[in-house]
Amino acid sequence: MQAYIIKEINQPPFKTEVAIPVPKEHEALVKISASALNHRDVWITKGQYPGIKLGAIMGADGCGTWEGKEYVINPGLDWGSDEAYQALNFRVLGVPDDGTFADYICIPKKYLHEKPSYLTVEEAAALPLAGVTAYRALVVKTKPKAGDKVLISGIGGGVALFAMQYAITLGCDVYVTSGTEDKIEKAISLGAKGGYLYRDVNWPKKLMADIGGVDVVIDSAGGSGFNNLVKVCNPGARISFYGGSLGKIDGLNPQLIFWRQISLLGSTMGSDQDFVDMLAFVDKYKIRPVVDEVLSFDDLPLGFQKMEAGKQFGKIVFKHN
Ligand SMILES: NC(=O)c1ccc[n+]([C@@H]2O[C@H](COP(=O)([O-])OP(=O)(O)OC[C@H]3O[C@@H](n4cnc5c(N)ncnc54)[C@H](OP(=O)(O)O)[C@@H]3O)[C@@H](O)[C@H]2O)c1
Repeated sequence: MQAYIIKEINQPPFKTEVAIPVPKEHEALVKISASALNHRDVWITKGQYPGIKLGAIMGADGCGTWEGKEYVINPGLDWGSDEAYQALNFRVLGVPDDGTFADYICIPKKYLHEKPSYLTVEEAAALPLAGVTAYRALVVKTKPKAGDKVLISGIGGGVALFAMQYAITLGCDVYVTSGTEDKIEKAISLGAKGGYLYRDVNWPKKLMADIGGVDVVIDSAGGSGFNNLVKVCNPGARISFYGGSLGKIDGLNPQLIFWRQISLLGSTMGSDQDFVDMLAFVDKYKIRPVVDEVLSFDDLPLGFQKMEAGKQFGKIVFKHN
């Protein structure tokens, strides 16, 4: 079968011929119909991710068929028994374990979940990693209430867009930041109330003048810009963050956090229960993932280039043969 492996660091994923894997007793051999890209895959090609195993098949997101039925795959392996945090041997599918950028995958049957029937296979492939990360970061961690003002930074991101869709579904007023006006306009067309350019140094002042502050913040950028997110928080606000794309948070002012009783909540992926709850939530409200582009499996490296350039709005999906 055809598969993309991580062959060398700082090289695009390498397409090669490998043997179709043989399932163990507790596993299913799934024929992948569609897979999708996450920023994690880009970090792996750059060597900026822990536990990289050269030669492993990449890809965390996938939707495929087994015994005539269509399934989405939960990419969070061995979460463990505590809902509050993952076990030491927790892994994300696709390096070091062989992932979804292949014609077939062997996966323990417990990670297969029936595809919501209203979704296409491409939409379903876009859902798993980003969908569960957004669900835990927003719904589980910040417990948003209808009417809460929710700020989501970097709205072009895969996880960020799911968080926006969930928050709107829960009756929150959603505001976004982005690097470009057109992504803000797209977010508004999907139901956001407004948006700000994160490169505009005055955006926090503008937001405060417009709406007076926010109750919930969802972020994956970190870096010094995180201080602006704290500045626009209302008393009692919850900031949930699941990434640190821009690195360490310099100059964080503790007084601004403790005096206003702000909660800083770290979040990663989601438990098996979070995955089940996320699927039920999207199915109940018929939420459709925002798909930026569907590329052919042969064009998979082009997806990596687009994500590295930050040009996407939503998920980049690969249609398999
Ligand atoms: N802990 C976990 O479980 C987990 C799960 C998923 C992702 N992550 C991490 O979260 C990050 C995003 O992942 P993803 O897959 O959603 O990536 P993605 O689709 O590539 O999105 C990245 C987004 O970051 C935004 N961004 C860039 N510069 C920014 C800035 N200065 N301020 C605010 N936002 C900025 C961009 O927003 P605009 O396009 O709007 O400018 C871009 O869309 C990555 O670091 C990833 O590794 C962690």
